Parts: sequence; C-alpha cells; structure tokens
Amino acid sequence: MTTPPSPTHIAFVGCGGIAYNQHAKAVLSFPDEFKVVAVCDPTRPNAEKLAERFGSETAIFESIEEMYDAIGTELHGVVLTTPHDAHLPGGLFFLERGIPVLIEKPVTLNLAELKQLQAAETAGAFVQVGQMQRFDPEAWWLKDFVQSAERFGRPISFDLNIWQNIHGYTRGNSDHWILNGKKAGGGICTSVGVHPLDILRFITGQDFVEVTAKGRFDAPFVEGAESSCSALFEMSGGLTGTLHASYQPPRIPYAQRLVLFGERGSLFQNNKIGDYAGPYTMVSEDPHIDDFMAMFGNFTPIAEEVKQAYPEKSNPFALQLIHFREAILEDRKPEENTLEKNFNTIAVLEAIAKSMQSGETVKVETLS
Ligand SMILES: NC(=O)c1ccc[n+]([C@@H]2O[C@H](COP(=O)([O-])OP(=O)(O)OC[C@H]3O[C@@H](n4cnc5c(N)ncnc54)[C@H](O)[C@@H]3O)[C@@H](O)[C@H]2O)c1
Repeated sequence: MTTPPSPTHIAFVGCGGIAYNQHAKAVLSFPDEFKVVAVCDPTRPNAEKLAERFGSETAIFESIEEMYDAIGTELHGVVLTTPHDAHLPGGLFFLERGIPVLIEKPVTLNLAELKQLQAAETAGAFVQVGQMQRFDPEAWWLKDFVQSAERFGRPISFDLNIWQNIHGYTRGNSDHWILNGKKAGGGICTSVGVHPLDILRFITGQDFVEVTAKGRFDAPFVEGAESSCSALFEMSGGLTGTLHASYQPPRIPYAQRLVLFGERGSLFQNNKIGDYAGPYTMVSEDPHIDDFMAMFGNFTPIAEEVKQAYPEKSNPFALQLIHFREAILEDRKPEENTLEKNFNTIAVLEAIAKSMQSGETVKVETLS
C-alpha cells in the first residue's frame, strides 16, 4: 500500500473571481496534495463564499496580519489573487516571513516593484508568477514547433490580438479597480495583454527589446489606464510584430489570438470572434509545396498532435499549482515562472506605457 503524500498547507489571499472560478477548482482536484487552511479577504462575504468550497476547517480572516498571527506557523505557501496593487505588499509580507507565494499575473505594477520582490526572495521563500498559460500543453507543443529549425525556421513576424469587453466584465461597475491605472498598473495591456505578450516570449524564446505604441484613454478608464493600444515591437532574435489590444470591442467578451510566421512554418490561432482563445492550425514547408492553389489545402489543426505528445493534458491552473508544490517540497525556486523569467514581460508592459505617454520608440529594460 502506498502512503498518501502529506498535504501542502496553503492559504488564499484575495477571494474574488479567479480564486473562486479557477484556483479553487484546481486545488480541489488534488485532495491529497493540498489543504486550504485559511482564506483571507477584507470583503468578508467573498472569503466566506470561497471557504465554503473547502469545508468547515478552513479559517476565515480579513487581513494578512490577523491570518499570519493565528495560523502563520502552519502555512507552507500562499496563493495571492488580489487586485494588482496588493501584489507587492502581500508578496513582501509572506516572503519576509519565509513563506513562498504564487502571485497572479501581472506579478507587479512595474519593474521597480518586481525588483523589490526579487530582493526579498530567499532559497525557501520565493515567488512563482501566475502566468498559467505557460502550463498549457498546447503552449509546450507550440514551443517545440516554433523552435524547430526544420519545421518552423527562424521566426520572422507576428500579430497578437487581445480583446475584452470591459462593460460586460465589470458588469457596468464604473468603480471597478481594473479601470484605475493606479490599482491595475495600466489598462488593457497590463491586465490581459500580459497573456499573449508572455506566451509569445515563451513560444519563441525571444525577449522584447523595443516598442512604439499608441494608446486611447477613453472613459470609464482613469489614472492613465489605456482603453486600447496598438503597438509595434522588435524582439531579441530579430522577430518583429504588432499587438492590437482593446477593452472596447462591442459584444466580444474575450478573444486572444496569435499569428506567427517563420521562414518555413506558419501558425494561426483561428478563433471565431467571441471565442475565448481559438484552436491553432499550423503549416510547414516540410513537405515543400510549389503550387499556389495546392497551398490552400494543407493546414493542420494542432489539437490532435498536442494530445498525442501530452496525453495526460490537465488544466493549466492545476499544473502550475503542482509546480508550486514541488518547489515548496524541495525547498528551492520553481523552474517556470520565476521573477527572472517574468522580468521581460513586466519590462515590456512598462515600455509600452512609456511609449504611449511620450509618442517615442522606447527600449525595453534588460535584466542586469
Ligand atoms: N490567470 C487568469 O487568467 C486571470 C483571470 C482573471 C484574473 N486574474 C488575476 O487574478 C487577480 C485577481 O483578479 P479577480 O478577477 O479575481 O479580481 P476580483 O476583483 O474578482 O477579486 C479580488 C479580490 O481581492 C480582494 N482584495 C482586495 N484587496 C485585498 C487585500 N489587500 N488582501 C486580500 N484580498 C484583497 C477583493 O476584496 C476581492 O475579493 C488579478 O491579479 C487578476 O489579473 C487572472
């Protein structure tokens, strides 16, 4: 008989939409691996609603200080899913007490904050960033395809789209924190553009080096949060491309798309308008086709190939949680989504914001 693993004791800090809809489900799919000892949220009804999912033993708190005083010694890790301006204070609080933290995206409001978290990390107390799309088996397959010289060749150019209907998302609440640049760290690029920007880096293995961006700052956004943005980028391997990000697409709830051309291969994320993030199709010049009309017929959906390469496909939120647990158990930093790996993602968001303000082309700060 095998002994069940002893559960990792975690707490949720921030008990809103993403904690309830995704992280809780992920935790509950590993009953032997995790025990949620506490939840914490200044909005008590949100904390109570989340705690109900984990059973009567989960303690409820309204501040991290109160929670740490009561159960701090029992905690192995924290999942921090608050508005963005609470990521740094919450992250520092736990790191300084030796507790690892999984922090939702974007990890911080800016690079200065990311560096503060880096300075507070120790061997056993680290940050894992919640860019969970890096834990999608589809992304692993795409990475292999795009970084294959035979099938894809050198990446040449890309186009990213990220659209979210903000009126629907906020249910018309004009005080929502996501509309406020001071609380969210920016607008559409920071809050959701971070997903395609980060996944492009993951798939291509290239970092952003330069950006020129033009933004719109329409109501109900305040404090410098952009409502839409069009940006042009150069990356470290010479890849160039564009981003069209908008919080103003009528009747489109959310859509994330990527088109990427290499010297020998093409990749399309072909979602129907209104789909969350559509299926990918790809084509490669191996085998080579000369006939123009014949080219129309040769696109392959990648779903079947992904299933074969990664038959045990699981939810990205669940896989990132298991990665977090392994690092905790081995008392080391995680391999994926460290602060170092996230540096260029936060740096490009900062460069986009600077370019939208100045109208100039801006160099992206590099990890020194
Ligand atoms: N990975 C994804 O696909 C994804 C999707 C949505 C949101 N997110 C991210 O998750 C985080 C939370 O977003 P959400 O949509 O759940 O927001 P939300 O507004 O639904 O929930 C945030 C919760 O945090 C609480 N809170 C505020 N300040 C706090 C503090 N100091 N300490 C503890 N709790 C506090 C609020 O009361 C609220 O219950 C953000 O970083 C967001 O970008 C990620």
